[in-house]
Amino acid sequence: MKKIGILFGMENTFPWAFIDRVNNLGLADIMAEPVNIDMVSQGEPTEYAVIIDRISQDVPFYRGYLKNAAISGTAVINNPFWWSADEKFFNNALAVKTGVPVPKTVLLPSNQHPPDTQDSSFRNLAFPLSWEKIFDHIGFPAYMKPFSGGGWKSVYKIHDAGEFFKIYNQTGQLVMMLQEEIVFDEYYRCYCLGGKYVRIMQYEPRNPHHLRYVKDGGSANKALLQTIHDYVLKLNHYLGYDFNTVEMAVRGGIPYAIDFCNPAPDADVNSVGQDNFDWVLEYSVKMAVERAQAWKPGADNLTWGLYIKNAAQGIGFGAPASAMPQTQEQEPAIVTTEAAPEVAATPEETVAAEQPAEKAKPAAKRTKKK
Ligand SMILES: Nc1ncnc2c1ncn2[C@@H]1O[C@H](COP(=O)(O)OP(=O)(O)O)[C@@H](O)[C@H]1O
Ligand SMILES: [Mg+2]
Repeated sequence: MKKIGILFGMENTFPWAFIDRVNNLGLADIMAEPVNIDMVSQGEPTEYAVIIDRISQDVPFYRGYLKNAAISGTAVINNPFWWSADEKFFNNALAVKTGVPVPKTVLLPSNQHPPDTQDSSFRNLAFPLSWEKIFDHIGFPAYMKPFSGGGWKSVYKIHDAGEFFKIYNQTGQLVMMLQEEIVFDEYYRCYCLGGKYVRIMQYEPRNPHHLRYVKDGGSANKALLQTIHDYVLKLNHYLGYDFNTVEMAVRGGIPYAIDFCNPAPDADVNSVGQDNFDWVLEYSVKMAVERAQAWKPGADNLTWGLYIKNAAQGIGFGAPASAMPQTQEQEPAIVTTEAAPEVAATPEETVAAEQPAEKAKPAAKRTKKK
């Protein structure tokens, strides 16, 4: 019997529905259950052929457990090594290299020193930074957000240099990015499962949380949807995510990738709506069962992205198109769904993009390098 385990935290709708759906398939040799963890011993395999990880971003102990599971043969979805290495600024750099449009973005040093560092730890850093050059490059309004974050936490819309410094001085030890605003005509949130199943969902981030998945959002241009579909696949093939969402803001007919580092994306029926939930359930079960069927004991059963695979062969960007994996592509279709009624937003999602989320702390002034 091959077991598919799901590792999760507070979320309540998707994990149980996933387990029921797998078990109701009535497969003779595959079943699903919540992952059960007790003593974790180095190099010991788990009882799972496949683990769907929905929570290790918040629980470092789980990340350790999952890497140990992976080296012992479990197909962990998503690859815990890549997820540990990845962040949004790298994602943007990868998009630039693969030809997917992204807003102009720069990385900023944290406003306050990380623990156990002092002025002399930053002798390599220009002080002051070339702020004028940065602002000229990005322009205002701009978005400032953590290079590794999610759930709209600490995402700010900034209108001028004065506002920038006021908010930057409240960001503490977070490493932030400053990003060009894409003033969009349309916005899409796209699920990508198993590097081949894509669902393009029309989304209106300016609506309150429970009304963001748009119903009757109008019909989108087919060529645009095809482009979004191709970009979604390309990004996920290079990153190597089995379970991810990509957000695209469309300006002047060009889709810009805004947020595509979501390896535990919201799948709650109360926020994504019934139709999207049903799709995520159907295709995540399909993907997990496929991975269990393909599972080889003791082998590396992880998905590794093209970036890593190419790098291991000494191939940089500009690899021939034949290096791209063959996928069973689905006809792209826009999906608009009924918004879920009266859902209480989670605390982190109540943060409006225009409001500082973090409590203002007095910022220590960055001191000049010695
Ligand atoms: N460059 C941008 N241009 C326009 N809107 C943006 C930009 N960056 C972020 N936003 C808005 O802020 C929201 C949250 O930012 P996002 O990058 O998705 O962070 P998170 O990972 O926390 O969801 C987006 O859904 C979008 O509405
Ligand atoms: Mg987002």
